[in-house]
Amino acid sequence: MDRQEALESVEANVENQNLIKHMLATEAIMRALARRLGGDEDEWGIAGLLHDIDVELTEGDMNAHSRLGADLVREMGVSEEIAHAILCHNEAHGIPAETLLDKALFCADPLTGLITAGALVLPDKKLANLKPKSVRKRFKEKSFAAGANREQIAKCSELGIELDDFIELGVTAMQGIAADLGL
Ligand SMILES: [Fe+2]
Repeated sequence: MDRQEALESVEANVENQNLIKHMLATEAIMRALARRLGGDEDEWGIAGLLHDIDVELTEGDMNAHSRLGADLVREMGVSEEIAHAILCHNEAHGIPAETLLDKALFCADPLTGLITAGALVLPDKKLANLKPKSVRKRFKEKSFAAGANREQIAKCSELGIELDDFIELGVTAMQGIAADLGL
């Protein structure tokens, strides 16, 4: 499965454009993490791009979310490593993140929401003007982008990356695809 095929599968299964943007943002952060940690950039990127492919199909059933996704991506022919990372990114199953790829996806996923919210409160709503420091401040404000699970983001420590560093990496990665994100 190459990137183009992965994107086509996402577009075939997901109508909500914000959800597609979330997966593109996760892909960008995953690629940056792969570069940092010596992972396979294409593999890690595809894990990010596909990770929520089942969200509309599972209609909010958290016991099904990511189980179906893992099955779907296996059928598409992705590696077992990617399928496992997708399966365990949903904490509801209680399947621990084991590999670096699992752990990377787990903490990259909620970071996208915090960064997007950080951009949207700027006067021009542009990622280009978003400072990692202001995202770091918002991190402490629990009511801000409350859906962006802070504990989950902070698991970047398990990758050997400090929170400030992780936020900066995420902001830079998302700035790199700002046009695709419409931000
Ligand atoms: Fe996600």
